[in-house]
Amino acid sequence: MTNISSTLQETRRFKPDPSFAQQANLGPQLYQALKEEAAQDYEAYWARLARKELVWRKDFQTTLEWEAPFAKWFQEGELNMAEQCLDRHLNTATKHKAAIIWEGEPGEQRTLTYQQLHAKVAQCANALLEMGVKAGDVVTVYLPMIPELAIAVLACARIGAPHSVIFGGFAPNAIRDRVEDADSKFIITADGGWRRGSVIALKDNVDEALATGCPNVQNVLVVKRTNNAVKWTDERDIWWHDTVDSASTKHQAQAFNAEHPLFILYTSGTTGKPKGVVHATAGYALWTKLTTRWVFDLKPEDTYWCTADVGWITGHSYIVYGPLQNGATIMMYEGAPNYPEPDRFWDIVERHQVTVFYTAPTAIRAFMKWGDDHVLKHDLSSLRLLGTVGEPINPEAWIWYHELIGKERCPIVDTWWQTETGGIMISPLPGVTTTVPGSATQPLPGIDAHIVSGEGEDVGPNQGGYLVIKKPWPSMLRNIYGNPERFKNGYYGRFENFYFAGDGARRDQDGNFWIMGRIDDVINVSGHRLGTMEIESALVSHPAVCEAAVVPRPDDLKGQAIVAFVTLEVEADDLESLKAELSDHVVQEIGALARPAEIRFTDSLPKTRSGKIMRRLLSDIASGREAGDTTTLEDASVLNKLRDED
Ligand code: WTA
Repeated sequence: MTNISSTLQETRRFKPDPSFAQQANLGPQLYQALKEEAAQDYEAYWARLARKELVWRKDFQTTLEWEAPFAKWFQEGELNMAEQCLDRHLNTATKHKAAIIWEGEPGEQRTLTYQQLHAKVAQCANALLEMGVKAGDVVTVYLPMIPELAIAVLACARIGAPHSVIFGGFAPNAIRDRVEDADSKFIITADGGWRRGSVIALKDNVDEALATGCPNVQNVLVVKRTNNAVKWTDERDIWWHDTVDSASTKHQAQAFNAEHPLFILYTSGTTGKPKGVVHATAGYALWTKLTTRWVFDLKPEDTYWCTADVGWITGHSYIVYGPLQNGATIMMYEGAPNYPEPDRFWDIVERHQVTVFYTAPTAIRAFMKWGDDHVLKHDLSSLRLLGTVGEPINPEAWIWYHELIGKERCPIVDTWWQTETGGIMISPLPGVTTTVPGSATQPLPGIDAHIVSGEGEDVGPNQGGYLVIKKPWPSMLRNIYGNPERFKNGYYGRFENFYFAGDGARRDQDGNFWIMGRIDDVINVSGHRLGTMEIESALVSHPAVCEAAVVPRPDDLKGQAIVAFVTLEVEADDLESLKAELSDHVVQEIGALARPAEIRFTDSLPKTRSGKIMRRLLSDIASGREAGDTTTLEDASVLNKLRDED
């Protein structure tokens, strides 16, 4: 396992502040008790928590039915997810509290109390029913970061229609693939959204996707956000303000089975097409609720801001479902972190008195680059807890976050998890854990994470291996939409009974986990997962391209950058303009997040004797590392040529 090694030796330790620990939702005693309870009787532990935390319309009898890889949790139970997030707060003081404080990129602001959000969700639910959406129908949501995004998602949950949210940065082809894969008949979008002062024309993208496929789409519900001109298809398109705003604010939520699919979220994997990760209702509800309370220590008076987009799992779990179940006040921001100036985030923190802040290492590295002045001119004293997610955080960025943003006062939670895990799995607990910059530290109570060898045996301290979760957990993915084989092979193929996360990791002598990144063909660009195969397919779909191999290269800002090695069908005169054209082509096919940092033309690609492209070798070349084992290389001259072109 030569690729899973880490030389990082981080010795700094940060103990929880006793005053923080004292007020923490999860202090050392409770933590110990939970761990022991889970170790003693795993199912009883989860059953007790599920009964305590969720509002059940009908109780369950079976805590877990497990036939690897298929799990059913709390299966006879019935509940409604929107009720967990909204209705349950309406007869408490939370009713009149702000649920969402929203700021648009141009600066407008809206606040929705729990009561108001409940009314909007009821209206949207009624409008969707009116459109003919039924429980079980997949509704695609392609919206900017505006309150309607949260409203749409909760309305779907309320009527039992699984949502499939597509990040607003994806291109028409990516929308089409996802809509078709999910056989979704309804789409919710907006005319546009604001990004760095420009309008991203979302409705145009949907129109383009529908012009090339998706014959089953019946209706497109459109929010007016940016007022840009849109094309209109009368029998298909419906304005949100014409239907939702005039719908009744009363809606009696129906109870659904615990295992009813709550949503599909597409993510990148090892093979070409993105896969639709399916999450079920009750287990997901339970774990997002608990982890939000434990890891972010949310209190009624907190203003909590997760800077992710609801288009990613982080936004699903830690903007919408986790915080709302806990009755929190959520900050939501539409636009770019550096618009109009690189201090926009800190300006928001100061003006809205944000107390808990959760972002990605790539954003932290960008702030470092933009300069400390943008931070120092703001009063950040409202902050009391910081978090990170999406990729390993380098200790230098961790320390900057700790000093410049947290003023050496705020605990930092480095949270490891995935689209598939539904919620946070490995993370410090702010009142309990001694943190180490760069380590996500320890699994949460009930999560059975291990590092194993290729044979599935636990490895010793500081030995690299595969990160696995041995026992099923409530918020685990239930399937890959329409593709149980892919689910089985992808996650339970390597080790029959353990969930294989796709990450390499090691555990140090103190039991802390160090995530070393993906060991499969997934690239993590700015915390966003992209499959190398997806990008390769996009390149090969261009008429000039014969073959393509895409590999990651370390990048100071983005974590990893995309490098594409390309062989051509024809001889090109102007290679520079062809590079630009291919780059635009990838953006056109997938979206701006997949734009290659570098495209290199080559006569041929290094392959094994069995014809497999040697991506690791190319990755070494792209990163300027000396190439490793080349003994299986079919034609050694290829390598020399590639090196010469360096
Ligand atoms: C990586 C995002 C190190 C990891 C919630 C994982 C991390 C993938 C961390 C999932 C972290 C996420 N430290 N690596 N704290 N958090 N990752 O599905 O490689 O978008 O497998 O979920 O991101 O990405 P996904």
